[in-house]
Amino acid sequence: MSSRDDPGGAGPRDLPQMVDLHREARHRRQLMERPDLTYLFWESTLRCNLKCTHCGSSCDATSRVEELSTEQVLGILDTIGEDFDTSRIFVSITGGEPLLRPDLFEVVQRLTDLGMESCIVTNGTLLTRERAARLVAAGMRTVSISLDGAEAEHDAVRGKGSFTRALAGVTAAREAGIEFVETITCVRPANLESLDRVSEDARAAGSNLWRLITIDSMGRLSGRPDPEMWLDSDHLRQLMAYIETRRQAAARAGDPGLDVQFSCGGFLGVALEGQVRPDASQCYAGLCVGSILCDGRVGACPSMPRAWSQGSALEQRFSTIWRERFDDYRDLDGPGGAARPRRSAAGSPPGRGSSWTRRRWGRGRGSRRSRSSSTRFRAWPPAAR
Ligand SMILES: C[S@@+](CC[C@H](N)C(=O)[O-])C[C@H]1O[C@@H](n2cnc3c(N)ncnc32)[C@H](O)[C@@H]1O
Ligand code: SF4
Repeated sequence: MSSRDDPGGAGPRDLPQMVDLHREARHRRQLMERPDLTYLFWESTLRCNLKCTHCGSSCDATSRVEELSTEQVLGILDTIGEDFDTSRIFVSITGGEPLLRPDLFEVVQRLTDLGMESCIVTNGTLLTRERAARLVAAGMRTVSISLDGAEAEHDAVRGKGSFTRALAGVTAAREAGIEFVETITCVRPANLESLDRVSEDARAAGSNLWRLITIDSMGRLSGRPDPEMWLDSDHLRQLMAYIETRRQAAARAGDPGLDVQFSCGGFLGVALEGQVRPDASQCYAGLCVGSILCDGRVGACPSMPRAWSQGSALEQRFSTIWRERFDDYRDLDGPGGAARPRRSAAGSPPGRGSSWTRRRWGRGRGSRRSRSSSTRFRAWPPAAR
């Protein structure tokens, strides 16, 4: 009996997925022994021109920290260029809103010069054709733009008029020659029934990839259960069935159209992993994923509490922190195993369970454009945050 018939178990039909999961687990173990930086976030700013209800980074017009100057960012990147095989590193530039940094193009150019591919995750509202063309000229091929529903649902959390501007950003990116224009949708009960519409709008505007994620209890939503933002288990099943059906239809047609996949979320079970995304979800934070936060602190993933950062790249080389300070992410025998730091540069981490972290970092997310077959951590589509 397969797990489809019996949700409690796995059957012969699930064998390929189970083999894949086993390989994934073995690879993860290898990474614990030999971490391998292939995915780097740069949290460019905490400033934003929007003030979304669900913002996991609590962003608004001003930043609450002292952010890195252009020289500091370039200096840190240069050390990475000296200390790592940059041809294997994909950089996701997130925020806040990256397009608020006037030096964005200069930084992208430096990443390209150092041999790293990069993308931005943006609300799209400031992405004019001219700016998109500058990103292309600086070497960028990938842009991810948030689209949180059809117009009414998107504007309800992101502000009036933001939907139209985000879609204009998608079109601008496409017309400027960005190869991968991904839309990211934070699914919540209010937009669950409109996903077909969102996909049509995204596709018509020029998007070729669509990533669906769930909303985390962080930032402005931190600590408050919010039935308007969170999917219950029936919603989640509905979402998984939706994605699976679309992926199967695309596979049958031999054309993904708008290639859809689920991202983030913890392990979904043998029956779903490999169905709603190409690879099994695992948290790779601190194993092949690292991040430079906007004040220079070095963390495993921007979705983790800032207190879990492991040092500052303004005080030590990034590579020193990455190689010497992430033991707790790489210690299978520690309490909670990997992805649950026991200590941090800023003191004890909050007692949040490892499941929270893992949930966030399923985000190895499968991909159409693997950076490295050896890591099997796929750099595309890039992480949302
Ligand atoms: C923090 S935003 C930064 C980039 C840009 N400002 C934007 O909104 O796309 C990065 C991504 O995280 C998503 N996001 C925001 N708040 C979130 C939350 N509480 N849980 C999960 N994802 C969230 C956004 O929708 C976006 O796709
Ligand atoms: S989710 Fe993105 S666009 Fe919205 S407030 Fe946060 S950083 Fe800004």
